[in-house]
Amino acid sequence: MEVIISSQPEAAVIALNEIQKIDPKARGKRLRPGVQLVELSEEAFEAIKKSRPIFIQHMGLKEDSIPKFKKDEMHISRAEFKLQEAFLTFAIDLTGFKTALDLGAAPGGWTKVMLEKGLQVTAVDPAVLSDKLNGHPNLIQAKETAQEFLRKQKDPYDILLNDMRMDIMESSKIMLDMASLLKPGGLALMTLKLPHSHWYKNTKRALALLERAYTIKEARQLFHNRSEVTVLLGTP
Ligand SMILES: C[S@@+](CC[C@H](N)C(=O)[O-])C[C@H]1O[C@@H](n2cnc3c(N)ncnc32)[C@H](O)[C@@H]1O
Repeated sequence: MEVIISSQPEAAVIALNEIQKIDPKARGKRLRPGVQLVELSEEAFEAIKKSRPIFIQHMGLKEDSIPKFKKDEMHISRAEFKLQEAFLTFAIDLTGFKTALDLGAAPGGWTKVMLEKGLQVTAVDPAVLSDKLNGHPNLIQAKETAQEFLRKQKDPYDILLNDMRMDIMESSKIMLDMASLLKPGGLALMTLKLPHSHWYKNTKRALALLERAYTIKEARQLFHNRSEVTVLLGTP
């Protein structure tokens, strides 16, 4: 089994260390800075999947099968690709979901993707959304911060999205406050923007905080944004 570790160079080293804790024989072959190829046994691969390593991308994928997405005429932001990759990588199933809350929605890439999936989306951001979304019948805009929105909102959603540009502990604390806005059986998807220093320790701290209110289903760096970790959360 070949595993690609593709990341910032520093993260690739940590990922290899994590792998070697499970499979001491595993050796990384450096393809280029920050990208390593590791040979693993099936058992080690399964163990690593269960251990939810946060800095291993594209586990079990050859590099040429990394998902690529095309811009269409409605394309709003590169962030759309992050969300599409998360849907694919985590096999997110929206069956029965009707409503989404999108925190840090501007300029509107994630909102657009969720509208296209047929959900009613509440887009929260003090910044402006793209004109391309103007007048969409399933879009509710809240031009304010997530914290302001949270003080007023009581009705729960099927899925919470959070792509706010924010310190990861602050963003995770907001997710804890938001937990009551998630319906039982719902999902939350958020990005943790990796801090410049002590990012491994801080990301682990953020995940531990999130576990107070959610089940962590996945936490992975994705190809379409290597400077963040994408986290899929479920209700406890
Ligand atoms: C990376 S952009 C989001 C991109 C978006 N997901 C998309 O697909 O187009 C981060 C956004 O977080 C927003 N943001 C930062 N702090 C926020 C807060 N406290 N409440 C709501 N939005 C916030 C910023 O205004 C910015 O638009």
